[in-house]
Amino acid sequence: MDAPDNHSAWSALEAHYATVRDTHLRELFAKDAERGERLNAEGAGVFLDYSKNRVTGETIKLLLNLAEASNLRGRIEAMFTGEKINVSENRAVLHVALRAPADASILVDGKNVVPEVHATLDKMTAFGDRVRSGEWKGHTGKRIRNVVNVGIGGSDLGPVMAYEALRSYSRRDMTFRFVSNIDGTDFAEAVIDLDAAETLFVISSKTFTTLETMTNAHTARAWLLGKLKSDETAVAKHFVAVSTNAAEVSKFGIDTANMFGFWDWVGGRYSMDSAIGLSTMLAIGPVHFTQMLLGFHEMDDHFRTTPFADNLPVLMGLISLWYNDFFGAQTVAVLPYEQYLKRFPAYLQQLTMESNGKHVQLNGKAVEHETGQIYWGEPGTNGQHSFYQLIHQGTRLIPCDFIAFIKTRNPLGAHHDILIANVFAQGEALAFGKTPDQVKAEGTPDWLVPHRVFEGNRPSNTLLVDELTPAALGKLVALYEHSVFVQGVIWNIDSFDQWGVELGKVLAVNIIPELDATQGEMGAPLAHDSSTNALIRRYRTQKEN
Ligand code: F6P
Repeated sequence: MDAPDNHSAWSALEAHYATVRDTHLRELFAKDAERGERLNAEGAGVFLDYSKNRVTGETIKLLLNLAEASNLRGRIEAMFTGEKINVSENRAVLHVALRAPADASILVDGKNVVPEVHATLDKMTAFGDRVRSGEWKGHTGKRIRNVVNVGIGGSDLGPVMAYEALRSYSRRDMTFRFVSNIDGTDFAEAVIDLDAAETLFVISSKTFTTLETMTNAHTARAWLLGKLKSDETAVAKHFVAVSTNAAEVSKFGIDTANMFGFWDWVGGRYSMDSAIGLSTMLAIGPVHFTQMLLGFHEMDDHFRTTPFADNLPVLMGLISLWYNDFFGAQTVAVLPYEQYLKRFPAYLQQLTMESNGKHVQLNGKAVEHETGQIYWGEPGTNGQHSFYQLIHQGTRLIPCDFIAFIKTRNPLGAHHDILIANVFAQGEALAFGKTPDQVKAEGTPDWLVPHRVFEGNRPSNTLLVDELTPAALGKLVALYEHSVFVQGVIWNIDSFDQWGVELGKVLAVNIIPELDATQGEMGAPLAHDSSTNALIRRYRTQKEN
């Protein structure tokens, strides 16, 4: 497959970069009194202020040219219409179908997938209502009060992030826990205070073969049956599955009537609004879940139909690429000023880095530009008292995405105004800093001045949304999903496969039997490199002491 020829658009940006790389944001704002009013965009109720970025009108024009030259329009349509754009797995990429209205038609191999999506949503709703109303009883006749989602990666990060984000909409008389890690501590701590008779396990795994999830699922089954002193018959009332793999689900012992399906065209990291969201629906209820889907869909529509110059995911994707590929920035800090979004950066790490951490193009040739920024972050204001020092005065350029909400779910005195004052202040401080003259004018002794200078010129986006509702969460997630897509198109990579996770999985499976201390050197000789061999021997010996 030939890559679109966007070379001259890249070259134009390189030439432009040479002329603007040293321009300070102070200068850009001083030259244009309206800059803060102009360089923003609004879509689906999300407001993006991108004026505090190291861009001029010409930069944006050239970045938009790059998007056009990369056939972004064509690729958006290809995704939305079910073309198999995940070329290395020969799959369509249709998370947008998960939130399409019931009367939409999206064809995969000639079949409209939307009716199946809505049939699954109806099944989730019916089940959710039964559990939440207490009609669904556990094996001993008690109602379900605890829900434990067992999954990892996309089968965990979305559900846990959404649960935390929408906690204020959740059933407070129910407990929700999430088990992902193969480390037994995760399971042990998740169930330590739960009554098995009131506990429902949602085993979430697209493949139903993932080592961590299947190990945890078997441990959960043993725990439940042990606690209830029951035979296998209890499984039906306490285990449901979310998967694409019915055969493995029934092999595990879960009745496929209690299975909620999805499809190979939903990537794990794009699945929180599929049946993988079952725990979310159990927590917040079907009505709020539907509102979340509507929010996703609104952003999908914005992305598909809005001219690129006003298109939030396009602008955010391009601006982030500008720092990554021209300024050499390696990371992006995502800084939600909203405690409920505390797991949002972790969620985005899989979305962004599993999607765009790629070294070859769609045609198998090496990429021509750096791909895949490192995403990280923590909620404000906590981060301000931790790593912000490096963002303000360190030697690295770290573009920041600030996320804030006009209204809080918990209006307590002046807290929210103080919170918002802080997020605005950080953007201002990063952009404009403090000059040596300003520092001196404050009476600072000369020797101390360099320490107290803030260079500024550190870029940020500010996303402002009315309130963290289910719909707002859907919009934010879709915004980042599509922004990842925009960058993947320009780099001409497959943002929807994840071959890079395979090797470690295979090697771990080889090593598991080698850790058996009874084998010692009696078993087959270790055949790894000398470092790995020595680590295995040390572990084998010392675990017996
Ligand atoms: O190891 C990576 C991965 O394949 C992710 O892409 C995926 O979200 C996760 O594992 C879990 O996979 P599954 O839902 O099949 O258990």
